[in-house]
Formats: sequence, structure tokens, C-alpha cells
Amino acid sequence: MNQRDSEHMIAELNETEPYELCEDYKEADLIIINTCSVRERPVHKLFSELGGFNKHKKPSARIGVAGCTASHLGKEIIERAPYVNFVLGARNVSKIAQVVNKDKAVEIDIDYDESEFAFKDFRNSPFKAYINISIGCDKSCTFCIVPKTRGDEISIPPELIVGEVKKVVATGVKEVFLLGQNVNNYGRRFTSEKEKVNFTELLRLISAVEGLERIRFTSPHPFHMDDEFIEEFARNPKICKSMHMPLQSGSSEILKMMKRGYTKEWFLNRAQKLRDEVPGVSISTDIIVAFPGESDADFEESLDVMRQVRFEQVFSFKYSPRPETEAEHMTEVDGEIASERLAYLQNMQNEIIDEITPQYLNTIQSVYFEELRPDGFISGRANNNILVKIKGSEELLGTIQDVKIIKTGRMTQIGELLG
Ligand code: 5AD
Ligand code: SF4
Repeated sequence: MNQRDSEHMIAELNETEPYELCEDYKEADLIIINTCSVRERPVHKLFSELGGFNKHKKPSARIGVAGCTASHLGKEIIERAPYVNFVLGARNVSKIAQVVNKDKAVEIDIDYDESEFAFKDFRNSPFKAYINISIGCDKSCTFCIVPKTRGDEISIPPELIVGEVKKVVATGVKEVFLLGQNVNNYGRRFTSEKEKVNFTELLRLISAVEGLERIRFTSPHPFHMDDEFIEEFARNPKICKSMHMPLQSGSSEILKMMKRGYTKEWFLNRAQKLRDEVPGVSISTDIIVAFPGESDADFEESLDVMRQVRFEQVFSFKYSPRPETEAEHMTEVDGEIASERLAYLQNMQNEIIDEITPQYLNTIQSVYFEELRPDGFISGRANNNILVKIKGSEELLGTIQDVKIIKTGRMTQIGELLG
């Protein structure tokens, strides 16, 4: 989502300002740092990076801070780093041209409706387009700062989304990546009166666009994974068969304290339905270890879900207390125990991955090639999102090819073209 917000800012600036992109910030006339605030560490990193930029930048260069940390710290950023020229919240990126030439401007309105502006035209990749379908989040997970930085959820009208899909497909893009904090809650609220269209219906509308070959999306919420949604996911040939299912915890007690709205049993039931109905599906997840109150037995429940579902990818994090969240003042788990749990979980997942990936050997994968590598390989994603590289050159970029996997690895699978 931040990558798309960065593209959006570049698109806005291209309309009115004389800047061009450059590789080295020491040469830049304008430096914008787009930030995350979901855990504490990136916030610390912002201030150390800012110090470095200020020291080495051109003396006349301007510095802006955008994104979620901008939303939540606002003018405090300028108080702590007085050389920062402007601060632009995550829900205000379309206003970049209004603040870029001001001094000490702070624009962080989390009620702002960007839905009409989300599709400004600049994209980093000619092959894949990130497309926002909703803005903000209506959930109140007790660990999460996002509703405070991105505001209430509004859905972007379906006709605007479908129009954008048609536009990017006309430029040669084969794959769209739909973005929202909670994509399968799509359609609950539009800014103006709209006919209700839910996420499943939106997927059907988008997949009808001629020339579009692949649809991906992130993140769906396990709570909203009803049968209709899973069946559409299974049936629709344009929807790539990889699903992100953020578990957060395997303990129903902890899930209740997190206000996630589902139990361990519901999560396992949904994952099993996916495995049953979607042959070859890959399932990825996010897990937080050491949420306040997490006992050894609760942690064991997370490991149990991992053993049962055998996720193809796990993003795991130590709980980090965030300001203005419900969990902020709950008693934390001892830091050393938290680190041990994280290491244990990651080791176990590596073992699972090392059992999964050899099964790809000699399989045929349909790969969309997107990147030329310096080592004579080109790489892309298979339908189920595994990263595949083959010896090959530029002319394969932007094409979808059948590839036979000849060597497997934890992160990347090596293949050769069929035929
Ligand atoms: N501490 C640790 N991890 C967090 N996440 C969100 N908030 C926190 C937090 N306070 C994780 C969740 C989410 C992912 C994007 O970041 O797992 O799904
Ligand atoms: Fe945060 Fe929960 Fe919303 Fe995801 S669904 S952005 S974890 S509040």
C-alpha cells in the first residue's frame, strides 16, 4: 500500500512540479520519506534516517515525511527534526502538490476522502498495477495503529475501479493487485449513495475485463471469508491461487483480546475449505508473538495452527505496543521470552518450508516474468505466488510462460522453459 502511495505522490508531482526521479538522494532537490508505523522500530528508524539525509543532502533540498508515521506524529516530526519542510499523512497523499512548496506544512486529516483521486497515473512496473479498492479500516484490532493513521474505511466506487483496470490493461498490464486494509469488507460504505457491491461481486466485475489475465489482492480478513468468497476464489480462473490469511494468534483467548472476531476453529475451518476447494493453493499468514497475556499454552496454539495449515509463507512479528491502541497499556510479556518464541516459531516454519518446496520439483508452473536480474536470470511469480527464476533474457519480460521447476530452494525455485 505504501508503494502505491509513493507512486501516487509521484503522479501528483508530475502534473505540476518540475521534478524527475533520481537514484541518489545526495543529488535530489526534494526528498520524501514514506513511512510505516505499524511497529515501533520503523518510527525510530525514521528519525535516524532523517538525520543522515539532512547531513548529506544538497543544502537547498527540501525534505518531506509522508505516510502513517506522518499521520500519527504530525507536527511532532517538525519539532523533533526542524529541518523537515512538510508532513503529509497516509490519507492525504493526493495533496502533495499543495504542501510541497510550503514551509512547516502539516496535512494529516484522517477523514479526507481520496477515493476520487486514487488512480493518478504513475506506475513503477509496466507489468503489474497496484489498484486501491478501499481506504482506511473499520476494525479495531487492539494491537493495531492503522485505523488511527488511515481513518475509517471507505470503498472506492466499483465503476472507478473497473475503469482503472481497463485503462491499465490497455497499456499492456496483465496482472492487477487490488489493495485495501480489509479487502473482503469491500462495499460496506461508499462516500455517496451507491448500489451495494461486495468483494466477491467486485472480483467478478474485474475479471470480466478483456485482456486481464491475473488478479491478486491483499489483505483479506479471515472473519469475512464466507463460502461465497471462497467459492469465487476457487472457480474464477483469473484469480491467482494464493491467499493471505492473517492469523495473528492461534489462541482463541488471545484472538478475543485482540478483537479479531474469529476463533481458532473458524480459522482452521476456512483454511481447510481453501485447501479442499482450491488445488495447489498457497496460504500465507501474519503472526504476532507475545501479545500481552500470551501464555506458553497460547503460544503453543499458534504453533498448532502452523502445523495444521502448513502455511507456504509466514510473516512473524514480536508484539510492539503502539500509541492510542487498546493494548498499549496491557502488561507486556517478558522481552526475552518474546524473542525466544519468535525464534522458535521461525525455525519451525523454516522446517515446514523445507518440506514443502521439494514438492515443486518437476512441476509445471505458469510464471509471469517481471524482472531482469544481473546474473543472467529473469524472475517472476507463479500463479500461487512462488518466486521462480530461469536463465533468460529481456524478451520474456511481460509474458506468461509454462516453466518446469528443476531445482528447489527455500525462497526461489529455479526452472526452465517448456518446449
Ligand atoms: N505489533 C506487532 N505486529 C503488528 N502488526 C500490526 N500491529 C502490530 C503490532 N502492534 C502486524 C500484524 C499485521 C501486520 C501488517 O503487522 O500481523 O497483520
Ligand atoms: Fe489493523 Fe485489524 Fe484493520 Fe488489519 S484489520 S489494519 S490489523 S485494525
